[in-house]
Amino acid sequence: MPKPVVLIAEELSPATVEALGPDFEIRHANGADRAELLAVIPEVDAILIRSATKVDAEALAAATRLKVVARAGVGLDNVDVKAATQAGVMVVNAPLSNVVSAAEHAIGLLLAVARNIPAANSSLRAGEWKRSKYTGTELYEKTIGVLGLGRIGVLVAQRLSAFGMNVIAYDPYVQPGRAAQMGVRLVPLPELLAAADMITVHLPKTPETLGLLGEAELALVKPGVLIVNAARGGLVDEHALYVALKEGRVAGAGIDVFVTEPTTESPLFELENVVVTPHLGASTEEAQEKAGIAVARSVRLALAGELVPDA
Ligand code: NAD
Ligand code: MLT
Repeated sequence: MPKPVVLIAEELSPATVEALGPDFEIRHANGADRAELLAVIPEVDAILIRSATKVDAEALAAATRLKVVARAGVGLDNVDVKAATQAGVMVVNAPLSNVVSAAEHAIGLLLAVARNIPAANSSLRAGEWKRSKYTGTELYEKTIGVLGLGRIGVLVAQRLSAFGMNVIAYDPYVQPGRAAQMGVRLVPLPELLAAADMITVHLPKTPETLGLLGEAELALVKPGVLIVNAARGGLVDEHALYVALKEGRVAGAGIDVFVTEPTTESPLFELENVVVTPHLGASTEEAQEKAGIAVARSVRLALAGELVPDA
């Protein structure tokens, strides 16, 4: 009997292959290369991806043997889950694997922006000793507005509470009582925009959330607000953010995710008060190991025809 073929379409932790074990033929390909993906996908029983591989209706139509799409991470916006379900292909992810890493990265970006750490680092290395130019702002006793009080939003809220921040959140799908237990006050979006000194975005990318912070919303923010987006590119409209930063309405931003990825060019990169990272929220040893092991287990179960439990 030939072994089922498992395609690893993006760089995953070595623990993934170990956890898959000896029962599969493992192949590797660059899933971000469309032609390469479409050439190999008809031959595979399972595909393991991160965020760069688009498993859309076209890819699924070509995937005549495919039984499972395994997303080694949280966001499923690069998978057409409806088309997969219609085609009888199971979609699994690893929703707990990287949430601590993503929360810590968002807070890292917030501190980096609030204290001008990257700009001051570049300045000192360039031979300057400028203390007053890089005067920052404390988090203590400021109001943080969390957009999306899900797994990551909650971790961020808890950690920023420990910094002495007043935490408010916008999430119409969370019960106010549950938020209150964590010391978080749920508010409508316009109230959050008007009250928050700092805003951090932890939403999934859906038709409803895309551009949730656009031109109209950025016109309502408290002047001098700092904004962090370590969720998905486009939740904060990049052009509207650029304009608001240029006008000084937004004093700084920390951005991990972009509408187009990968990218090495953006008007945002010209601004010293913008701190950027190349989608690193989940890029820790711990998160990658957990994600790889979790999806490998799910793939084993799915290809054995067994029930895949919720993570
Ligand atoms: P989650 O599903 O636990 O939480 C998302 C929250 O958003 C939920 O509470 C939901 O009610 C809320 N929400 C949904 N639609 C909304 C809307 N229209 N308005 C307000 N709130 C809304 O997900 P999570 O684990 O917290 O992850 C959030 C997102 O972070 C993921 O979908 C993923 O895109 C992103 N992420 C990024 C990285 C990274 O590397 N930068 C890593 C992990 C996750
Ligand atoms: C996620 O949704 O899990 C993140 O984007 C991280 C990743 O792509 O691995």
